[in-house]
Amino acid sequence: MKVVAVENFADSGFSADLIGWQKVHGRHALPWQNTRDAYRIWLSEIMLQQTQVSAVLGYYARFLARFPTLRDLAAAPVEEVMAQWSGLGYYTRARNLHKCAQRVVAEYDGVFPSDPVLLAELPGIGRSTAAAIAAFSSGRRAAIMDGNVKRVFARVFGIDTYPGEKKTEEAMWRRAEALLPEEGIESYTQGLMDMGATLCTRSSPSCERCPMQVRCVAFNTGRTKDLPVRKPKKTTPEKHAVMLAIVDKGQVLLEQRPPTGIWGGLLSLPELDGHVATEDDEAPAEDHDAMSLAVSRFGEMESYQRLSTVTHVFTHYKLHIAPYRVTLTRLLPLAAQSNHVWLDAAHIADAALPAPIKKLLLELLGDSRDAQQRMF
Ligand code: ADE
Repeated sequence: MKVVAVENFADSGFSADLIGWQKVHGRHALPWQNTRDAYRIWLSEIMLQQTQVSAVLGYYARFLARFPTLRDLAAAPVEEVMAQWSGLGYYTRARNLHKCAQRVVAEYDGVFPSDPVLLAELPGIGRSTAAAIAAFSSGRRAAIMDGNVKRVFARVFGIDTYPGEKKTEEAMWRRAEALLPEEGIESYTQGLMDMGATLCTRSSPSCERCPMQVRCVAFNTGRTKDLPVRKPKKTTPEKHAVMLAIVDKGQVLLEQRPPTGIWGGLLSLPELDGHVATEDDEAPAEDHDAMSLAVSRFGEMESYQRLSTVTHVFTHYKLHIAPYRVTLTRLLPLAAQSNHVWLDAAHIADAALPAPIKKLLLELLGDSRDAQQRMF
């Protein structure tokens, strides 16, 4: 028999307490409240998608003064809409706002639909924004879900998986649907927003004033700082490279890198593709042969010495460089078409070398003309 886990999210106490709290302690005088005008509500919800209330207030008033109705907005040139939006940021919102106004005029005779599913088909209106518009303008029961709601849910219900993860987010949506009250969706929806913005803040929640205190898992287990769970850090891939600092009479042998890939076209140390030790442990005996073979086109290897690992952090990975200092006897001339050069220690500081290689060589060979004395 297949066993199906049934989520039991229903909790009438949560929504009843939230509505009671919102009516007394919530926000009631924001300029987009106390109206059923879908145009005004829609405009506020779009502006508030990625911007805080305090930053929206002035823009909201100016926008409405310039475009008092949805039809005014739809008829305006997009440049003018953009100009009014200028400074609010996330300008796709403004372009979509204009498109949405034109669609509502063309498809709905200038009247926003009350169905959140239809609202969510319009440009710039996602599932949560559609629910907020439908709740505030028509009293429709629909669930909102944004960063603030996720934080409240994670804490109150002790959700200890990352809310940005698909599974967690889907479970949060199901919970949000199950918690919707039969009545008072406006106060409930506003209450969720108000709680997230004024009480259940990210870094210093006011738990002493919170209506959810008795049922809040995070509060009652001392985990308000740990919930919601932060985005897990991606582990950066690690790569290893063996590089040879072949030095002779105050000069170091450099190789021009291929034009593409890391350090494209720059001079760098020749690399060894073999399997010599890349960690800071003792190099095994067989490394000697690999090393000797790798340098044989430049001369006969006299000795080599493992230097300390250098780690360089790129945007997408970490490179651990295991450098070997190699000395040669019976140097061979470089081939005519060689991509190798001997560089004077005194020129290292000015050469086109990758930063970590330059640093390594300056530490190894010094950066002044007395380098030869220090080396030999
Ligand atoms: N953020 C998103 N919608 C909001 C609203 N209606 N009131 C306050 N803040 C909000």
